[in-house]
Amino acid sequence: MSDRVATLTIDGKTIELPVYSPTEGQDVVDVGKLSASGYFTYDPGFVATASCDSKITFIDGDKGILLHRGYPIEQLAAESDYLETCYLLLNGELPNATEKTEFVETIRNHTMVHEQLVHLFRGFRRDAHPMAIMCGVVGALSAFYHDSMDIDDEVHRKVTAHRLIAKMPTLAAMSHKYALGQPFVYPRNDLSYAENFLHMMFATPAHHGESEYKVNPVIAKAMDRIFLLHADHEQNASTSTVRMAGSTGANPFACIASGIAALWGPAHGGANEAVLNQLAEIGDESRIDEYIKKAKDPNDSFRLMGFGHRVYKNYDPRARVMQQTCHEVFAELGVEDDPQLRIAQRLEQIALEDEYFVKRKLYPNVDFYSGIILKAIGIPVDMFTVIFATGRTPGWIAQWNEMISNPYKIMRPRQLYMGENARDFVPVDKR
Ligand code: SDX
Repeated sequence: MSDRVATLTIDGKTIELPVYSPTEGQDVVDVGKLSASGYFTYDPGFVATASCDSKITFIDGDKGILLHRGYPIEQLAAESDYLETCYLLLNGELPNATEKTEFVETIRNHTMVHEQLVHLFRGFRRDAHPMAIMCGVVGALSAFYHDSMDIDDEVHRKVTAHRLIAKMPTLAAMSHKYALGQPFVYPRNDLSYAENFLHMMFATPAHHGESEYKVNPVIAKAMDRIFLLHADHEQNASTSTVRMAGSTGANPFACIASGIAALWGPAHGGANEAVLNQLAEIGDESRIDEYIKKAKDPNDSFRLMGFGHRVYKNYDPRARVMQQTCHEVFAELGVEDDPQLRIAQRLEQIALEDEYFVKRKLYPNVDFYSGIILKAIGIPVDMFTVIFATGRTPGWIAQWNEMISNPYKIMRPRQLYMGENARDFVPVDKR
């Protein structure tokens, strides 16, 4: 892969390390053989660590670029749709008309879940956080598909990818209905992916005739775009978790469940829920300065949710599309003067002007506007990260499949040990 080397000199000893050049982005130094020379690299948080090679998604944080299989996110958001982007992530190319029709049909025909799964929901309290339910039921899917769990079988991997993409919206809507105490609404094959999700979320058996729930096409398009904008994002924390779990040979349902668990954190996918909770806590534009002060206080752990990113040191390109979608949804719903939207816009304006944020290149990220849109659509705040997990499923499964379908090793990082030196045990009567 390379005829270039980096030379590392430690205590007079010189070690040559291969340097690899990517098709886009930064060169990498292969430090794999350092351990044979008696050293580890040290990079808490993996700020400067490339954990794998991948062909799926490229991010340029300085330029605010996001490509899925080479296609810019702005073009996919404007020209494509979620299932087509799922196909692209999984297969590496956009589908032709026949391939697209077949893929959409395949996903539609996998949207139902085994009826026994309903009993699994019954074990949760009605006030369980839907992410707790999703961690449980997605992992439990491995108990229902013994026929397609051979990770070395390409057909099994493909069927599992289709099942997960198809069933996540069904399980997500079920976790919402369970919290409401309403009956689950079955998926319908006459609806598009986003329409079906909204129907399962908001329809009820009591609605018939005139009162029957009708999906608003503008809202369905916004929902589809929200799923699309969350589809994949290189080696983020939850995707790295899925790869780590997959590297042990764990079944794909368990791997995706581990990704859901990692996504739940407020520093990651839980940020969209945290943004809305924070906007509610701020409550009024008059209190914004108080919270900006807290965010800038090095002694205060408070952070402005929805701002900053490990990679983007420019505007998150998804946030721009999300902001545009926000205005479309608010115009359709006639809520342009929503107070929380006004607070959000004021926060964004401050962040783009205030020296603290500008110096640290803290821009709005994908989570900043998504929650405001979801709330306007009528989706409860605790469902926001479930929506993120649903949208991210094709990315997780594509990254998992890319690893499993190529030679891989179990991921087993080392450490900088700062504990006690070896010492002898002391019996309790002598302590
Ligand atoms: C997602 O990785 C991905 O790709 C994730 C994601 C995806 O699609 O998978 O893009 C989705 O998770 C988006 C991020 C959502 N999280 C949030 O919005 C939570 C708020 N943001 C922060 O917690 C933070 O910005 C992170 C976690 C996103 C990034 O943290 P880093 O890269 O470790 O940055 P850092 O903590 O080292 O911060 C650098 C400086 C620090 O100040 P100093 O110590 O240098 O003085 O910026 C400050 C931080 O205190 N800072 C913030 C801040 N984020 C960073 N200060 C106030 N508010 C913030 N939001």
